[in-house]
Amino acid sequence: MNKNFLTLGIETSCDDTGVAVLKGEREILAELLSSQIKDHANFGGVVPEFAARKHLENILPLISAALSKANINFKDLNLIAVTRGPGLMGSLMVGVMTARALAQAWGVDIVGVNHLEGHMFAPLVDLQADELRPPFLSLIVSGGHTQIILVKEFGDYKLLGETRDDAAGEAYDKAARVLGLPYPGGPEIDRLAAKGDAKAFDFPVPLKNTREIEFSFSGLKTALLWRVKKLQAENIELDEKILCDLCASFQASVTAALIAKVKLAVKLTGIKNIAVSGGVAANSALRDALINLRGVKAYLPKFSRCTDNAVMIAMAGKNNFDRGVKSDLNLAPDPALNI
Ligand code: KG4
Ligand code: ZN
Repeated sequence: MNKNFLTLGIETSCDDTGVAVLKGEREILAELLSSQIKDHANFGGVVPEFAARKHLENILPLISAALSKANINFKDLNLIAVTRGPGLMGSLMVGVMTARALAQAWGVDIVGVNHLEGHMFAPLVDLQADELRPPFLSLIVSGGHTQIILVKEFGDYKLLGETRDDAAGEAYDKAARVLGLPYPGGPEIDRLAAKGDAKAFDFPVPLKNTREIEFSFSGLKTALLWRVKKLQAENIELDEKILCDLCASFQASVTAALIAKVKLAVKLTGIKNIAVSGGVAANSALRDALINLRGVKAYLPKFSRCTDNAVMIAMAGKNNFDRGVKSDLNLAPDPALNI
């Protein structure tokens, strides 16, 4: 194994432009992120075409800044790892076309990375090489996905179950809109929930007792909407206290729904190690619940690596490359790629 192997990671699947330089398997030489959250907040969500244009503005300056930060020349690079899907077509296209052009101009190998496989690697970045080895479970809870995957081996994955409708992060974002809170909703609800009473409102825990690994969050969002309408009809003002209570109660239901299926996956597979990732992995109630779950060992990424980033893409790309997976210069984005 070449310890000086250098991977340039590029992530542009949604609204974050991420660039990272990785040395060997997990030594981070540079990690840069340009978030578009403020640009999209005015619209209450990500506007795909706008996101693509922002990636185009950001990508080359970020790559050259990452190379300077890592103190390397492009000639030193061994691999370019780029997210090829799933995600927004326009956004993916910017990353993939940039990676293709640079790989060709610089004569470097290129590998297209599944964004979900990238998330799977996020909790591994800060671990020692053999701290978490397959088989393990992977819970991905992001704005676009809610899945539990069995990692039999790196490269050999089995989807155990996923959401029937909204993803957990999407549920937080939609709930925030119902409550008049800014985008993205998850961090805001998390912040207010810390001051609220999770038992104040009795929201359902969707699919809690089914025997399938599956999730559903759209009904929960509707339950929140009706509760808010009821309060308004009763002329009860949504003051700070009620808002915090609504957030805490909603967050408790989302968390309970996720935990119920983590327990089921552990029971069905007999595997106790679970790596958690995606934006909702930053949620404090979920982190607490996972850490305190008896008989389960949860591996959580640091906060900044729960959401989209290029370190996880570089690490997943290097892992693929070591298994002999490479892409050619015709690499195409695949917005609907699955695990
Ligand atoms: O993984 P990510 O950056 O994007 C996708 O790949 O989809 O996740 C973004 C999602 C958003 O829906 C955001 O509201 C949610 O993660 N999120 C949170 C928290 N921080 C981010 N949800 C709950 N609690 C948080 N602290
Ligand atoms: Zn993501």
